[in-house]
Amino acid sequence: MTSRSTAQTLDAKDPLAKYRVEFMIVDQSLCYLDGNSLGRMPSETVNVVDRYLRSEWATKLVSGWADWIDEAQSVGDLIGRASLGAAAGQMLCVDTTSVNFYQLCSAAVDARSDRKTVITDTANFPTDRYILEGICRERDLKLVVIDDDDGEEFISPEMLAAVLNDDVALVSLSVIQYRSGVLHDVAKLTQLARDAGALFVWDASHAVGVVPMQYDRDKVDLAVGCTYKYGNSGPGSPAWLYVSHRVQRELNVPIQGWFAQNDQFAMAQGFDRTPGMRGFQIASPSIIGMRCVTTAFEMIERAGLSAIAQKAAQGTELMLALHDSWLAPLGFSVVTPRDSTRRGGHISVRHPDAQKISEAMRIFGNVIGDFRQPDCIRLAISPLPTSYVEVFDGFERIRDVVATKKYLEVGEATSRVT
Ligand SMILES: Cc1ncc(COP(=O)(O)O)c(C=O)c1O
Repeated sequence: MTSRSTAQTLDAKDPLAKYRVEFMIVDQSLCYLDGNSLGRMPSETVNVVDRYLRSEWATKLVSGWADWIDEAQSVGDLIGRASLGAAAGQMLCVDTTSVNFYQLCSAAVDARSDRKTVITDTANFPTDRYILEGICRERDLKLVVIDDDDGEEFISPEMLAAVLNDDVALVSLSVIQYRSGVLHDVAKLTQLARDAGALFVWDASHAVGVVPMQYDRDKVDLAVGCTYKYGNSGPGSPAWLYVSHRVQRELNVPIQGWFAQNDQFAMAQGFDRTPGMRGFQIASPSIIGMRCVTTAFEMIERAGLSAIAQKAAQGTELMLALHDSWLAPLGFSVVTPRDSTRRGGHISVRHPDAQKISEAMRIFGNVIGDFRQPDCIRLAISPLPTSYVEVFDGFERIRDVVATKKYLEVGEATSRVT
């Protein structure tokens, strides 16, 4: 595994290798191992957006809305079909993950108003924890935060069962933990919560586009996620939300915007929510943003999630082998599970000088991963744009930056983004 020819052979046999040329790769010597944070840009996105600006916005002006008005639903359906195992009519592509999370979690606790407990975990993504704190404060609910910050940050069915009872309105976890990369058992945890009469909101931001999910089969009711990581749709691109047919009638989101109004253009007094997914939409969607999402998720649909997941498993396996040979002797350890069925596209490695090393990787090695508090560096393979050789070269450069102690030359961080 530690010879470059192994990585070259993997690339030669890779059925997804042909997708790399569909991305605009400006610096061929960069090892970009951060597609789990912000995906690379498909070249076609430039043409699609250019065509949209010239032939639609500039040309059709306001008349364009006749074509654009329901695009949040059709683009949502594409995301659901390509990556979530979700039949049409249960998705929207809108707003941000944070807004969608607030909307669905609020709706869920309001639909279980006789229950007063909400469950999440300490390792969950900060926006989820903060929003849940706010929702619980507003409604005087008890927030139970399972402490799983040590080790691999995994909530097992037994751990969830231990805190579930008939007072729990809502459970919310991430499908893949943002820091450690551990993958939860969506089907089992969802079923446990359902059996206890609670609703479950999943945050799939780190899983969408890299791990196959089967929401309809697994009876998931509610989920949110972004499109800018393995979704390759661009910084701040519109997020998505999933509401199963089963619970659509039962739930009401707190922001009652005009897009959810039954006869929207009657502009009448009084809110009258329309049935179906439009009833979960707040406002005018970003059409430019959705064109980026469409371009990227059409590529994901063409490539197929099972091939994508296989490459993620193989690529993270390569990373672990390189870690064991090169990085472990330099004081690194692995946080992410060794079993490839329990992770997605990124691994997380730990080192006491992780922050300096992460910075030094960019400055001296032209390799990008990212630092996460307190001592982790995340390194990802995004299966469509990343080659195995890119992973190999990246790890070789990390080894060299640490082995030569070059990273000790790094000064104060210049950006507040890590
Ligand atoms: C798991 C997870 N949830 C939510 C968010 C927040 O997304 P946004 O800032 O688009 O609302 C992120 C951002 O990286 C994330 O990783």
